[in-house]
Amino acid sequence: MTDYIVEFVGTDETITCSEKETILSRCLEEGIAQEYSCRVGMCLACTAKIIEGEVEQSIVEKRGFTPEEAEEYALTCMARPKSDLKLERGVYPPSIENDAAAAGSAFGDD
Ligand code: FES
Repeated sequence: MTDYIVEFVGTDETITCSEKETILSRCLEEGIAQEYSCRVGMCLACTAKIIEGEVEQSIVEKRGFTPEEAEEYALTCMARPKSDLKLERGVYPPSIENDAAAAGSAFGDD
């Protein structure tokens, strides 16, 4: 089993994570403040931008990510590393941001 290094840019936080573990589960074990809610790939709260590296996360296109977004963003409750990683927390794909903006305007958020 290979352990990969996952670094969270802009912080001094780093974890090790094997290809059999999800990034979120390792964050929770190590006390890293990765945002999450459902832990089953539904809410998208746990998304992080992939600055460097690759993950296995075949579910993300079914969750509304475009193919490009699936390469650029990790759904950390589902994603398992395929290499060392650099991730930026709190950054969401444009398709999700646009949905949130549309929902805000639907509720008179102006
Ligand atoms: S915690 Fe909900 S999608 Fe990851």
